[in-house]
Amino acid sequence: MREKTILEMQKNHTVLNEQSFEPVILQRGYANRTLHIDLSKRSIEIRPVTERMKELWTGGKGFDLWLMFQEIDANTRWDSPENPLCMSSGPLGGVASFPGSGKTIVTSISPATESIMDSNVGGYFGPYLKFAGFDALVITGKSDTDVSVFIDATHGRISIEKTPDEAFDAHVVCEQFTEMYADSEDDKRNIAVVAAGSAADHVWIGVLNFSFYDWRRKVTRVKQAGRGGMGTVFRDKKLKALVIKNQDFTPAWTIVDQPFVDEFRIQPAATWKPLDPAEIEAIAAKWSNDPEYVIEMMQDIQDRERYISREAIDELNRITGVPKSRLYHIATFYGAFTLRPVGECVIQVCVGTACHVKGAARIIETFERELGISRGHTTEDGRFTLEAVACLGCCSLAPVVKINDEIIGNVKVSDVAGIIRKQRGEGR
Ligand code: FES
Repeated sequence: MREKTILEMQKNHTVLNEQSFEPVILQRGYANRTLHIDLSKRSIEIRPVTERMKELWTGGKGFDLWLMFQEIDANTRWDSPENPLCMSSGPLGGVASFPGSGKTIVTSISPATESIMDSNVGGYFGPYLKFAGFDALVITGKSDTDVSVFIDATHGRISIEKTPDEAFDAHVVCEQFTEMYADSEDDKRNIAVVAAGSAADHVWIGVLNFSFYDWRRKVTRVKQAGRGGMGTVFRDKKLKALVIKNQDFTPAWTIVDQPFVDEFRIQPAATWKPLDPAEIEAIAAKWSNDPEYVIEMMQDIQDRERYISREAIDELNRITGVPKSRLYHIATFYGAFTLRPVGECVIQVCVGTACHVKGAARIIETFERELGISRGHTTEDGRFTLEAVACLGCCSLAPVVKINDEIIGNVKVSDVAGIIRKQRGEGR
């Protein structure tokens, strides 16, 4: 028999309930509301987050536990309809500057242990849920037929739908829903799907798969919340898939107006000039405006601008369609990029443990005195930026200084003036 097309599958959906919702501006990492879906009643409800929740139950684990305790009692078993499946992202969720902030914490009473267990997983679901305006999702009840839940943050709509034709195998259903809800190839990266697969119908340790679209390889990939049988609970509720789509990547924290931030920010040198949009357009055109080459474009910008400015990120996003979240991810992941304006010569003085015991503090003080700037700053002429950094990975040479790409070991206080003179081209 001929397989159904994606369009035919979508036409065969039956909407059992739907609700609209408004976007919110995240405040200090919180959307201040949670989403509750009861599959027995087919209800969709948005509830506020209280200050007490944030004070006492901080983070994804904390929220999940607090939400669990609202639903269960001593008699709740893993397959009781009231056993919730909670998914949260903490206040740092989706902040690309922090490692691990893309995680989703999934919590439920485990079929394997009959106690509360949590499992954490990568992928995009947690951040997308946060950007959609929900700190957590709670799924209770059990459906009498296979259903999927669709959270469409681009149109502010949540629906519970009967989805009879999509596959059960997690990697296939993730691909099908990604294809179904994407408006274009680029739009696929705005979709994350959660699915358990058919094996979870038969075992107590079924995993839960979280998809993300790998735009470089052009495939939907999955990561697993593997602990505790979360996939088994998911399937026990007759959930086939949970789909989220979001195109707005709202900053979870807005810190630009905080005066204390200036103390930590490297100040631009007086001579620093950002690239104008036409120059960035020329760099992108050199790479045919192809999103595949966005890293190469960023390398060119870094070479010319000596950092990746906010304006450059905006322009690259406009020209290539690569989401800003992705561009910031690249800029913070690779050591070759910096988001801060720096001088032509970046002097990094290691203040790690080995270098510290060999006198790093006196060395950086001498650099500060010789250059007339404090650490974290750039000289007025834009020549030098001075930074204190953690271990540079060559402790046997301690104390260590790195000048652009060159490592200098066994540095003495009496060497500092000569090092600076050499960088100025004046010889040692
Ligand atoms: S502590 Fe300085 S290089 Fe390791």
